[in-house]
Amino acid sequence: MAEIGRDLEKAASLLRRGEVIGIPTETVYGLAGNALLDESILKIFEVKQRPQFNPLILHTWSVEQIQAFVSILPKQVHDLAQQHWPGPLTILLPKSSIVPDLLTAGNERVAIRIPNHPLTLSLLKKLDFPLAAPSANPFGYISPTTADHVADQLGPIIPYILDGGSTTVGIESTIIGWEAEGGFKLYRHGGLEPKEIERITGPLSRIPSSAKPQSSGMLKSHYAPTAALFVGEIEELWSTYASPRTAVLSFQKSYSFVSDKQQFILSEKGDIREAARNLFAYLRRLDNGDFDTIIADYVPDEGIGQAINDRLERAQHEHKPDHS
Ligand code: TXA
Ligand code: MG
Repeated sequence: MAEIGRDLEKAASLLRRGEVIGIPTETVYGLAGNALLDESILKIFEVKQRPQFNPLILHTWSVEQIQAFVSILPKQVHDLAQQHWPGPLTILLPKSSIVPDLLTAGNERVAIRIPNHPLTLSLLKKLDFPLAAPSANPFGYISPTTADHVADQLGPIIPYILDGGSTTVGIESTIIGWEAEGGFKLYRHGGLEPKEIERITGPLSRIPSSAKPQSSGMLKSHYAPTAALFVGEIEELWSTYASPRTAVLSFQKSYSFVSDKQQFILSEKGDIREAARNLFAYLRRLDNGDFDTIIADYVPDEGIGQAINDRLERAQHEHKPDHS
């Protein structure tokens, strides 16, 4: 069973030996290994039971480090880095030859991020290689926001989890790509609002929702609990799914027709960031066997609310057409 602790030296020495471990970031916990070593990358895919055509994010600690991993570093990326790194932003950039094809699943671009967590930044500085880290959940399941979430599922198969407490953002990083034809494209909504990015890059182009998924976070079914989840108007959903085994997950409101022990509120004060922080932990709690159905409402579709709604839709039992 994985040991949970705060021993950076132990974490570093396991990673130097090619092992994979759980690490905290400000978004979600990652399953980390040496990003430049095929053996470690393969171990990540194996532990996560993730298809190998799915590329991994390379995590490092400074823009100077990044120079080695990319063949082009556009000026706007310097500006983005200055304002938003360390932080919940991942950028796809043309990769250099030292980045293994296995990491990028054959893509010409590598996904790069400087995560904002003091323990993990200290860990990265101790190492002479960057870390590959997908979210530390089995492929397709809810992302972990505490060390215990990681242990619950991956504990038996990894040696160590670095405990950095509950994550402060709670949903994954926003992913943008630098496009050969110029400009940037939004690939995944996440912890950084698009409008913050657009101040630097200008309008981000978006991928039509009908497009072939280019990253697993874009797969229609992802972040899915075992219980069936439906998103929409609570009143309406309740009229179909009312049962003692149905849980209600609402953004802000409570409902008089639902018993207290069946309803869960993401943020009573209607704070979208608090809702993001609670989302995955609540979904896990509701998925512990007491309920077979979860009904949820959309959060306001602004700022990182778009990222929350995106996660809820992908977690749905049967994908419905995009509401936006
Ligand atoms: O917040 C986060 O981004 C967390 C923490 C641990 O950093 N990581 C994370 O990783 O969410 P993961 O693997 O669960 O999701 C990363 C997404 C995947 O959907 C993957 O397909 C996409 O990024 N991705 C990674 N490298 C890519 C590449 N070279 N080209 C296109 N998409 C890429
Ligand atoms: Mg993931």
